[in-house]
Amino acid sequence: MKTIVVTGAAQGVGLATASLLAKRDYRVILLDLQPVDEHVDRLRGAGAQVAGLSGDVSSEPFVQQLAHWIAREYGAADGLVNNAGISLIAPAEETTAAQWQRVMNINLFGPFLLCRYLGAQMLARRQGSIVNVASVAGLAGVSHRSAYNSSKHGLIGLTKTLAAEWGGRGVRVNAVCPGWIKTEMDVADQGSGAYSDADIVNRVPMARFAKGEDVAEAIAFLTDGDRSGFINGVSLPVDGGWVADASWDSLRMRTRG
Ligand SMILES: NC(=O)c1ccc[n+]([C@@H]2O[C@H](COP(=O)([O-])OP(=O)(O)OC[C@H]3O[C@@H](n4cnc5c(N)ncnc54)[C@H](O)[C@@H]3O)[C@@H](O)[C@H]2O)c1
Repeated sequence: MKTIVVTGAAQGVGLATASLLAKRDYRVILLDLQPVDEHVDRLRGAGAQVAGLSGDVSSEPFVQQLAHWIAREYGAADGLVNNAGISLIAPAEETTAAQWQRVMNINLFGPFLLCRYLGAQMLARRQGSIVNVASVAGLAGVSHRSAYNSSKHGLIGLTKTLAAEWGGRGVRVNAVCPGWIKTEMDVADQGSGAYSDADIVNRVPMARFAKGEDVAEAIAFLTDGDRSGFINGVSLPVDGGWVADASWDSLRMRTRG
């Protein structure tokens, strides 16, 4: 049985991914700042092999402890999904240094730490698959998200670099780039009045939000060496066509008939 660590697994995309991978017979380690016990119990009740851990992905001592625990229990993880992340919506000229650093710490430094410590164990076994959860905000600019967008662009840069550095030693590193998803993150962002459902739905060629499950399926594909074994270093949009579409809004709306 393959062991995979999913960060940010208490809700949203992380929980959808952990649940799907558990169903596909992975042993899943759910990791989050928030408690995950309830989800671990439910998945175990359904027959899955899962474990839960609470901790901060941007804490090097925590990630080192996690790596020691994994080495002791399983030798190494076979997979890692760097999904934990936070949003920040603020004009660039009002973003504070502390806000910028916090976003970078969680969205970029955290994934680096997990790649560094769990990746080293994967390299020793010459096998592994890492999927980083970036965003369409890692592929193009979106106003009022300078820290978030920079962190996601950086995460795609990290993905490509590790793919180049580790591919020859059996460790693949890819990213998914979701469009807007109906999760707690979206509810909080919309709560600040930054945008509406209609803004998003009108912008997406497929005329809907992503679901956590859409993203989880793409992650599961990239994780599985039998299905994606020669895919390395890609940043896969899971966005209903958002980044492919340079149409102006009224033209897009006309295509909907
Ligand atoms: N929701 C969207 O529209 C959207 C779009 C594109 C990309 N994404 C990305 O997808 C990922 C998941 O987003 P989501 O919408 O499910 O978010 P969410 O806020 O619903 O869930 C994120 C989870 O990460 C956890 N987390 C936050 N900081 C952490 C830390 N330091 N250590 C450990 N866990 C931490 C939270 O507790 C939470 O459970 C994020 O990386 C996000 O940037 C989201």
